[in-house]
Amino acid sequence: MEKMVNKFYKNKKILVTGATGFKGSWLCLWLNEIGAKVYGIGFSPNKNKNLFYKLKLNKKIKCSLVDVRNFKKLKKIIQTFKPEIVFHMAAQPLIIKGYTDPVDTYTINSVGTLNILEILRSNNKVKSIVCVTSDKCYKSNNSIKGFVEEDSLGGEDPYSGSKACAEIIANTYNQSFFKNKKRCGVATVRAGNVIGGGDWSENRLIPDCIKSINSNKTIVLRNPYFNRPWQHVLEPLNGYLILAKKLYENPLKFSGAWNFGSEKNTVTDVLTVVKKIIKIWGRGKLKFKKKNKYYEQKNLQLNINKAKKKLSWRPKLTIFESIHFTVEWYKKTLIDKKNPYLVTKNQIKEFLNH
Ligand SMILES: NC(=O)c1ccc[n+]([C@@H]2O[C@H](COP(=O)([O-])OP(=O)(O)OC[C@H]3O[C@@H](n4cnc5c(N)ncnc54)[C@H](O)[C@@H]3O)[C@@H](O)[C@H]2O)c1
Repeated sequence: MEKMVNKFYKNKKILVTGATGFKGSWLCLWLNEIGAKVYGIGFSPNKNKNLFYKLKLNKKIKCSLVDVRNFKKLKKIIQTFKPEIVFHMAAQPLIIKGYTDPVDTYTINSVGTLNILEILRSNNKVKSIVCVTSDKCYKSNNSIKGFVEEDSLGGEDPYSGSKACAEIIANTYNQSFFKNKKRCGVATVRAGNVIGGGDWSENRLIPDCIKSINSNKTIVLRNPYFNRPWQHVLEPLNGYLILAKKLYENPLKFSGAWNFGSEKNTVTDVLTVVKKIIKIWGRGKLKFKKKNKYYEQKNLQLNINKAKKKLSWRPKLTIFESIHFTVEWYKKTLIDKKNPYLVTKNQIKEFLNH
C-alpha cells in the first residue's frame, strides 16, 4: 500500500500549510523524498530551533512565510502555485496558548481554514484537500469508548472550539461548493497527541521532558494520570497521505471526517510515558505539579475503525516503539550530533519497512 502511495505523489504539486511546524516538517521531508513538488506555507518560525530549518527544508522546497489570515497574500501564492493536493495544517495548536490568546487561536484556526477553502474554491486544478483538525474537536464526554466520526463537535476550551469551527467550515464548504463540482474531495482529519523527534513546542510532554533531561532539570508533570492515545507523528501522516490519494481518485466517496488515532490498547497515562523516556535516555528525575490551572480532558480516545476499514490504514508502531523512535531521534541529534536530516529520513524508511 505505502509503495503505491509513495509512487502516486511523484511530481504531484502539493501545498502544505504549517510546513515549518513539527508535523509539517516531517510531511514535507517525506513528500520531498518521494519526488513530490512541495510548496510550504508557515509563519514566523524560530529559525535556530525549528525542525524545518534543521532538515534544511528551506533549501529543498519552496516556502513562503505568510499569515493564513492574510487573504490577499495567500490567494496570490495559491493562484500562482496551483496545487493539486493540499494539506492544511497551519494552526495555533496549543491548548494552553488557547487560554492565554483565544482570539489568535480562533482566528488562525477557523478563519485560516475558511481562507484556504475560499481560495481553493475557484481553483480548478485542486483535487484533494485534507484539513487537519484534532481529536479535541469532539464535545467532551470523558468516556473511554472512543469518539466516532459522527459524534458531536464541541470543545471546552478555545483551542478545541476553534478546531470544531474549522470542522464546520470544511464540512459546509464541501457540502455547498466542492461536492457539487465532483472534482475535488474535502476531508477533515482528527488525530490525537503525536510524538516524534524535532518537536520543541512549549507545554508538550515529550519536548518538555527532553529539554529538562538535557539541561539536568527535574521534569514537572501536569497531569500524570491523564490517558492519551500517543502515536508517532508518522502514523497520522501516513493516514493523511493515503486519504489524500483516495480523495484525488474518488472525491465523493472519501470526503468527510476521519479519525487517525492509536489502537485502543496503546492508550497510556502520562506517567508511564515519562518513566519510559527516562529509561531509554538513561537518566532523568520527575516531580508532579500540584494544581493544573486549565481544563484538559482526562480521557481522549478515538475509534479508528472507519480508517482501518475504508482506507486499509492502521497504526504500525506500538506505544513503546513510538517512544523509542522519538527518544532515539533526540539522543542521536543532541548527544551523538548526527545529522537531523539523515536521522529523520532513516526513521521514515524504518517506519515504512515496519
Ligand atoms: N502535535 C500534536 O500533537 C497535534 C495533535 C492534534 C492535532 N494537531 C494539529 O496538527 C497541525 C500541526 O500541528 P504541529 O504540532 O505541527 O504544530 P506546530 O506549532 O509545530 O506547527 C504549526 C504550523 O502552523 C504555522 N502557523 C501558525 N500560525 C500561522 C499563521 N497565522 N499563518 C500561517 N501559518 C501559521 C506555523 O508557522 C507552523 O508551521 C495543527 O493543525 C494542529 O492543531 C497536532
